[in-house]
Amino acid sequence: MRGYLGKTMKAVAVLALTTGVARAEGSVEVLHWWTSGGEAAALNVLKQDLQKEGISWKDMPVAGGGGEQAMTVLRARVTAGDPPTAVQMLGYDILDWAKQGVLANLDAVAKKDNWDAVVPDAIKKFSKYDGHWIAVPVDVHSTNWVWANKHVLDSLGIAQPKTWDDFIAAMQKVKDAGKIALAMGGQPWQEATMFDGVVLSVGGPEFYKKAFIDLDPAALGGPQMVEAFKRMGQLRSFVDPNFSGRDWNLASAMVIKGDAAFQMMGDWAKGEFLRANQKPGVDFECFRTPGTEGDVTFNSDQFVMFKVGKAQQPAQDAMAEAVMSPAFQSSFNVVKGSVPARTDVPDTAFDACGKMAMAQLKAADKNGTLLGSMAHGHANPAAVKNAIYDVVTANFNGQYSAEQAAKELVKAVALAQ
Ligand code: BGC
Repeated sequence: MRGYLGKTMKAVAVLALTTGVARAEGSVEVLHWWTSGGEAAALNVLKQDLQKEGISWKDMPVAGGGGEQAMTVLRARVTAGDPPTAVQMLGYDILDWAKQGVLANLDAVAKKDNWDAVVPDAIKKFSKYDGHWIAVPVDVHSTNWVWANKHVLDSLGIAQPKTWDDFIAAMQKVKDAGKIALAMGGQPWQEATMFDGVVLSVGGPEFYKKAFIDLDPAALGGPQMVEAFKRMGQLRSFVDPNFSGRDWNLASAMVIKGDAAFQMMGDWAKGEFLRANQKPGVDFECFRTPGTEGDVTFNSDQFVMFKVGKAQQPAQDAMAEAVMSPAFQSSFNVVKGSVPARTDVPDTAFDACGKMAMAQLKAADKNGTLLGSMAHGHANPAAVKNAIYDVVTANFNGQYSAEQAAKELVKAVALAQ
């Protein structure tokens, strides 16, 4: 491992002029958690774009949605004095690393391409630190989505559920027909991802904000939170007995194959449907967690560049520039299931779900209902996020009743701050 990394560190980046276009030669070592079929397909778009620029790619994949494992590997690398060139990162983790002064300053590229004018403030909050650009947003995902197998719904005469009660009734119908109603992977981050949408469905944006962003103990421990945990209990009754530890993309595959009807998951799930040649409106449906229409719990994947020496900087800058190009933002996000992180990219290349997501993101941003995802590090720093994960998982696995869970949540969040 050391030898391989040593070579990376030694890789020389030079600027050359070829047919009038600046080409940065060199290599980037990229740490990320895009390991599913859909994710890898999206990542390929970036690899190919960089290859065209003469930059070679050293892959450092660390599986695990939400990036917890990737962040553990990153800490070990930084502690060993050997950070990767570029790292996929979310929300508050970016700001935490920025505080430590180890991230490269991207102001020169940002200024040249006028990122300030095209990246929405909600994203910029995590791309800039102390007035300087320290991260490049690749995409905007959101977590309050449901993915459904249209053939299964049609065969059982189930219409797209509009309210929570409709949703529960629909799942009951699927269960009664002998199929799995809810495809789910029992991993803390997946349970937390569902919880984003569930909390929003109970109390709307105001409650979500009070609980997850303001960390108000009255909201964290109050009757609406008890109701949210009760809803998690309802969902628990619709998952199959083998859900524990299952990866999220295997849960998506259950819906794709028609073994299960629904999955509540961020829109990276769409990448799996597309990869399986499924079409929205024909094979699958996408809709917001019932009761959360108009609200968006978002997370934006960004690449941060670590300070790894001057020789690497041209390759880092070229990667940053490639990621922010409007053409890349379109082609990558079409495959990934997310939407562009810049406001000036047309929705022409996107499918119906993507067009809807783009319009909803814009509207939510305008209406103040664009909220950082708790599950994906856009509501709080990791310590608080992990404390919430623990309680959500304990409740989902039957260790706490809904009432106990709400009480424990207040305590856990207080201790984590
Ligand atoms: C990331 C997505 C990724 C998902 C599952 C999320 O935290 O933002 O890009 O596809 O995890 O791996």
